[in-house]
Amino acid sequence: MPNTPDTPVYVTDALIAEDIDAYLAQHQQKSLLRFITCGSVDDGKSTLIGRLLYDSKMIFEDQLAALEADSKRVGTQGQEIDFALLVDGLAAEREQGITIDVAYRFFTTEKRKFIVADTPGHEQYTRNMVTGASTADLAVILIDARKGVLTQTRRHSFLAHLIGIKHIVLAVNKMDLVGYDKTVFERILLSYRAFASEIGITNFTAIPISGFKGDNITALSDNMPWFKGPALIEHLEGVEIAAAADEAKPFRLPVQWVNRPNLDFRGFSGQIASGTVKPGDAIRVLPSGKTTSIARIVTLDGDLDAAVAGQSVTLTLADEVDCSRGDVIAAADAPPEAADQFEATLVWMADEAMIAGRAYWLKLATQTVSATIQQPKYEINVNTLDHLAAKTLELNGIGVVELSTDKPIVFEAYADNRTLGGFILIDKLTNATVAAGMLHFSLRRAQNVHWQASDVDRDMRANLKNQRPALLWFTGLSGSGKSTIANLVEKQLHRMNRHSFLLDGDNVRHGLNRDLGFTEADRIENIRRVGEVAKLMTDAGLIVITAFISPFRVERDMVRSMLPDSEFIEIFIDTPLAEAERRDVKGLYKKARAGQLKNFTGIDSPYEAPETPEIRIDTTVMTPEEAADLIIDRLLG
Ligand code: ADX
Repeated sequence: MPNTPDTPVYVTDALIAEDIDAYLAQHQQKSLLRFITCGSVDDGKSTLIGRLLYDSKMIFEDQLAALEADSKRVGTQGQEIDFALLVDGLAAEREQGITIDVAYRFFTTEKRKFIVADTPGHEQYTRNMVTGASTADLAVILIDARKGVLTQTRRHSFLAHLIGIKHIVLAVNKMDLVGYDKTVFERILLSYRAFASEIGITNFTAIPISGFKGDNITALSDNMPWFKGPALIEHLEGVEIAAAADEAKPFRLPVQWVNRPNLDFRGFSGQIASGTVKPGDAIRVLPSGKTTSIARIVTLDGDLDAAVAGQSVTLTLADEVDCSRGDVIAAADAPPEAADQFEATLVWMADEAMIAGRAYWLKLATQTVSATIQQPKYEINVNTLDHLAAKTLELNGIGVVELSTDKPIVFEAYADNRTLGGFILIDKLTNATVAAGMLHFSLRRAQNVHWQASDVDRDMRANLKNQRPALLWFTGLSGSGKSTIANLVEKQLHRMNRHSFLLDGDNVRHGLNRDLGFTEADRIENIRRVGEVAKLMTDAGLIVITAFISPFRVERDMVRSMLPDSEFIEIFIDTPLAEAERRDVKGLYKKARAGQLKNFTGIDSPYEAPETPEIRIDTTVMTPEEAADLIIDRLLG
């Protein structure tokens, strides 16, 4: 099945042939409802979609039959037809190697247009889940009347609720197979209601239907006189659309780019996430907090008197205030918060498990920052909804975590605003999207801990010492010669009256980091702490030398980003594994080869060599003394 929104649509409306413009105009004015259908194969999902298309005259009878046959074929393959998604960034996700099997079907009735996301079935249902950019207004949860509420029903309902779909329809299907029995329907309704309230779904609409026979789809069925309505389509035509609800919220526009064709024009472009805007409105630019007012709303078709949520516009402001990509222009009297520590729900979508402490790119609306995640507070078993203790999240895992960003981001709780509360995480090395997340709230401690400015600053401390601070970051395999060369470098500096401090892996692991071992997570934490300490020491004006294997590029780059430009000097002690192993000064390689030492770098734990270190030392052609001279030269020369 093609993966595009324009899967074949067979429109039979006569107006198309007669007057295409009139047809389009008529359709343009209708509102658009996006919805998803959730159910397993036997629940009759494809039959229902086929029925909706058929009853709204989008397909012919033979095509309906073909769709049903298709659904049976999928059924015999044993695939579960599972959770669908509607993602704005779908194309981008796909470029990043995540396959999302969703086919979109379009149909229209007198009152409204519809896009239904139809998943041909996917094992990895959470991959097919909505990210923060989801636009689905409604979810139809299908239940087979003969089977009642199943584990899948619970799972789908939980996911739909989690991603913030406001309207839930419980479609109790195959009523024809239970003799259109009212008590069957009521029993299912009762058990679903109990479960729904447990997970926080306060409102849903239950409709007894037969997708196959067409009962209660377009009109109420004589077969179930006890059901007073609404019929499914009637309900779909009436529910409030999220975009309409978004218009009532305070104004927010995440700035996508700044438009500056000439010196006289400076416009801020983006899609309005919520609210409405008019020229003259008082606004606030976040996170800076600067206020001014809207001068013009510019579009390709001319200026507008007003614009609403969902529209893409360019705003010009009455005053020259700083505003750039990633900032949010908001109603002056109801601005969103900015913070750098949060609680969030995370849905892990990558084959490699989450690594607590590692830095990932976090993208929220138009903002991109570096973020680290703490060990999950708990993982949620989506089948039982139990909270489980977890150290990490694996593929498809859903958990609640705390995370911190390297600078404040402008946000709202996902429950209030999907655009400013939904985010994705991106692996810094592979650029793959690894998770989707929903922010709950900012953590108080972030708000209450402020940076304390001191009167004596780092330049003053360094000046007193008559030197420029620097961090000489040695990296290389165990036994490559890091400590030896670092030690010689420090001796020379000392002789030259330079104030220095050497932090060495083996030593720091006896004190500050004695709680850490050699798992990936522990090594990351090791480097994070050493980076922070080294940074404080450069603030004190020192020339800091560190000798740690520091095997991962991402963490070395993280430390680099903590320091002012040119203060971080990466020194790659490039000794081939065979050579380090031949020297085996501590006898550790022998142990590792014998299987007595696990996770040994170069043996059963990776080493990612620097690609562009400031200094590279080839110890096979240079003595330690020559290496130290070269480093001193480069530092002070
Ligand atoms: S790092 O990977 O976290 O940067 P670090 O430099 O602190 O490592 O410590 C490396 C030193 O610990 C090695 O030189 C070696 O003496 C010792 N060591 C003990 N076990 C291991 C291991 N599994 N892998 C690497 N080094 C180990």
